[in-house]
Amino acid sequence: MANHKGGVGKTGTVQGIVTAAAEAGHRVLAVDMDAQGNLTRRLRARLPEAPEDRAAASLASVLQRPALGELGRILVPCGYDDPVYRDRITVAPAHLDLELLSLTAGAAASEKRLLRAMQGVVENFDLVVIDCPPNLLSHQIDIAWSAADFLILPCEPGYDSVEAARRIHERVERDRHTLNPDLTIAGIIVNRFRPNLRIHQRRETDILNIRGEEHVCPVRIHELVALKNQEELAQPLRADRIDGVKAADQFRDVYAWVTKRINALMEGTA
Ligand SMILES: Nc1ncnc2c1ncn2[C@@H]1O[C@H](COP(=O)(O)OP(=O)(O)OP(=O)(O)O)[C@@H](O)[C@H]1O
Ligand SMILES: [Mg+2]
Repeated sequence: MANHKGGVGKTGTVQGIVTAAAEAGHRVLAVDMDAQGNLTRRLRARLPEAPEDRAAASLASVLQRPALGELGRILVPCGYDDPVYRDRITVAPAHLDLELLSLTAGAAASEKRLLRAMQGVVENFDLVVIDCPPNLLSHQIDIAWSAADFLILPCEPGYDSVEAARRIHERVERDRHTLNPDLTIAGIIVNRFRPNLRIHQRRETDILNIRGEEHVCPVRIHELVALKNQEELAQPLRADRIDGVKAADQFRDVYAWVTKRINALMEGTA
C-alpha cells in the first residue's frame, strides 16, 4: 500500500482490507514498514512492555541482517478480541528504529532484506499486505517494493494526492527493471470521497486518467466518521457505532475488487 503523499489513508486501507480478508475466512499477514507504527497500534499488535525490548521484537531488528525466513521470529496476532480477526490476522510490528535502516542502504542487496526474511513464512498466508511510509525514494520503500508483487495506491480526490500517485506510477515505470521486474500497480483506491463535491468529481476524473479507468477500484471509500475514529479507537471497523458497518461493507467490496484484480493480473487476463 503506497502513496508518496502522507495521510491519504494508506494505513486505514490496509486495516480495512486485512479485516475484510479475515471476515472472508482468509489468513492474512500485515507487515508494518512504517516507523510511525500506526498499523501496529491500530491492529493492537503487542510489543514487549519494556521499551528497551521493543526494537528487538520488531521488523526493524529483523531487517538489520536477516536470515532466510527470519520474519517468523517477530510475528504476533492482531489484538482484537473477536477470534475472526485475532486468529486470522498476523502482524509484523514496526518500531521507530525502522528509520535507521536508511543508514545501511549502501550494503550489497540491502533492499532485498524483507524478501529474504519473508521466505518460507509468507507461504502460510493467503494474502500479505505491506503498509509503506509516505515516501518515494527512501530505502524503506526500496525494501518494501522489492518484496511486493503488486502496489495498491490509496488516493484522496485532492490535487497533491493525485500528483503523488502519479509520481509512484512514474517511479515504477522507471525503476521496475532494477528494483523488482515483477512489480505491478494493481490499482488505485479513491479514499475520503464526498460524491456531492464538485471538486472531488473533478479530481476523480484526474485519478481515472492517471492509468485509465480499469486501474481504479469502482468502489469509493467515503469520508466516514468510523474511519476517522480508527486513529483513536483501534478496533474492527464493524464495532464502530456511528457508521462502522457502512465502512466495513465498503472495504468488503474493495477487497473483493482487489482479489479479483490481482487474480486477473496473475493469470494474465487483466
Ligand atoms: N475515508 C476516511 N474518512 C475519514 N477519515 C479518514 C478516512 N481515511 C483516512 N482517514 C483519517 O485520515 C488520517 C490519515 O489516515 P491514515 O493514517 O490511514 O493515512 P496514511 O496515508 O497511512 O498516513 P501516513 O502517510 O502518515 O502513513 C487518519 O486520522 C484517518 O483516521
Ligand atoms: Mg500510514
